[in-house]
Amino acid sequence: MSEYPGVGRVLVIIPTYNEADNVRVIVERVRRATPGVDVLIADDNSPDGTGTIADELAAADPHVHVLHRAGKQGLGAAYIAGFGWGGERGYDAVVEMDADGSHAPEELPRLLDALADADVVLGSRYVTGGTTVNWPAHRQAISRIGNMYVRLALGMPLRDATGGYRAYRTPVLGKMDLDTIASHGYCFQVDLAWRAHSDGFRVVEVPITFTERERGQSKMSSGIVREALWKVTVWGTSARWTALKRAVAGNGPART
Ligand code: GDD
Ligand code: MN
Repeated sequence: MSEYPGVGRVLVIIPTYNEADNVRVIVERVRRATPGVDVLIADDNSPDGTGTIADELAAADPHVHVLHRAGKQGLGAAYIAGFGWGGERGYDAVVEMDADGSHAPEELPRLLDALADADVVLGSRYVTGGTTVNWPAHRQAISRIGNMYVRLALGMPLRDATGGYRAYRTPVLGKMDLDTIASHGYCFQVDLAWRAHSDGFRVVEVPITFTERERGQSKMSSGIVREALWKVTVWGTSARWTALKRAVAGNGPART
C-alpha cells in the first residue's frame, strides 16, 4: 500500500444501497484514478445483490474491502461505521464518495492535494469552478436553498455544506465525538461540516463537478430534507443561545 504525498494512507468509503449497476464501475474508476488508495464498500444488505458484487470485487483486489451491515440504516450510520473501520486499521485519511458516479474519482487527487494543508476538504459545487451536470431543477433548488439556510442559521461561511464528496484526516474525526451524531440522512454532511468548523479545524472547499447518476435511483426523500431543516434550526439556535449566555456572563448581569 502506498502513501499519498502529504496525506498518508487513504481509504475511500463508498456507501451502497441498491447500487448493483454502479458498484463495479465506481470501484474500477477509483482504482484507476488513484492506484495507491484503498476502497471500502459499506453496504446495508442491499436487496439487489450489491453486497455480493462487492465481495467479488474484494476477492479480486486486495485494495478493495467490504463492510456488510445488517440493513438500511441511513447514509450517516454507514459512514460512521466506515470511519471506525478505517480508524482501527490505521488509515491517515478517509474519503466520502457516492457509488453512483456523481463524485468523479478522477477529481480525487485534487481533494487529496488540498488535504495536505487542511484537516477537512469539501468537494464544492458552489465555489468558482464547481458545477452540477444534469441535476433536476428541484434538486438544485433544494440544495441551493438548503446551503443558504445553513449559512444563515449557523453563521458558517462554507458554500457547500451539504455535499457528500469529502476527505477528512482520521485524527480529526477522532476528535469530533462521532458517537453523539444522531443525523441519519444527508443532514449528516451538514452535521460533520458544522462540527469541523466550530471545533476550529481547517476546512477547505475545492471545486467539483457533480454529475447526476445515470443508473439506479436516488434515496433522497422528503423526510431527509425535513430532518436537515429541523436539526440545522436547533443547532443554530443553540449556538446563538450559547454565544448570548457567554456575552452576558462576560459583561456582568444584563440588568441590575
Ligand atoms: N449504506 C447505505 N445506507 N448507503 C446509502 C444509504 C443507506 O441508507 N442511503 C444512500 N446510500 C448511498 C447510495 O447508494 C449512494 O452511493 C450514496 O449513498 C448517495 O445516495 P444518493 O441517493 O445517490 O444521494 P443523492 O444523489 O440524492 O444525494 C447526494 O447529494 C447530496 C447533496 O446534494 C449525496 O452525495 C448526499 O450525501 C448529498 O448530501
Ligand atoms: Mn446520487
